[in-house]
Amino acid sequence: MRLDKLLANMGYGSRKEMKKLLKSGAVVVNGEPVKEGKAKVDPFNDEVVVNGEKIEYREFIYILMNKPQGVISATEDRQHETVIDLLPVDYSVFEPFPVGRLDKDTEGLLLLTNDGQLSHQLLSPKKHVPKTYYAEIDGKVTDLDIQAFKNGVTLDDGYETKPGELVILSSDEISRIELTITEGKFHQVKRMFQAVGKEVTFLKRISMGSLTLDPSLNLGEFRELTAEELDRLQNNE
Ligand code: URA
Repeated sequence: MRLDKLLANMGYGSRKEMKKLLKSGAVVVNGEPVKEGKAKVDPFNDEVVVNGEKIEYREFIYILMNKPQGVISATEDRQHETVIDLLPVDYSVFEPFPVGRLDKDTEGLLLLTNDGQLSHQLLSPKKHVPKTYYAEIDGKVTDLDIQAFKNGVTLDDGYETKPGELVILSSDEISRIELTITEGKFHQVKRMFQAVGKEVTFLKRISMGSLTLDPSLNLGEFRELTAEELDRLQNNE
């Protein structure tokens, strides 16, 4: 890879700024200052130091966020804060985007990455990646609802859902449940409950494929995936 490309990928400014940086001798490759942007480097094996700081090159970024309510799962929005706004600017060079959407009033697990292939793999309807939600429902959720979700329900637009696995944690005036689905239609969980005459009053995603929400992350907090989490996710385990 060209040295100027690597520096650009790592956020070292515009072409002009990079030229200046290189010219100043601030970029050192394997102990030697290199002033030519077109010089070839191996980003994973060569040691590249800029202003005395070693560059840890990577192409992709994988961030696990505990999305709070009130922010939009998008990269930009004219009116509202987005999940990208919650990340420090250092990450912007990677151009991360959310993998799928959570509604503005939904909390919980959201993966942000710039890895289009992994995103596609997790969202493709053909892959049937399970997503589990914790929800609070106005009214009593019963075994009839478990059966209905198992058979698939008809949404307001006529769409027949694939089977969903409903687990009742408590059933009262407000019921607490977990629902696992393998699809991601717009407002799917809310609309599935609507289909059985009930209303979701609180919704939180707790897992997506092998990835689970880290309980140590407060709302609005995030961390990068561990190598093991990424490996399992990529291998669809
Ligand atoms: N289902 C919904 O209704 N909303 C979400 O945010 C996610 C799944």
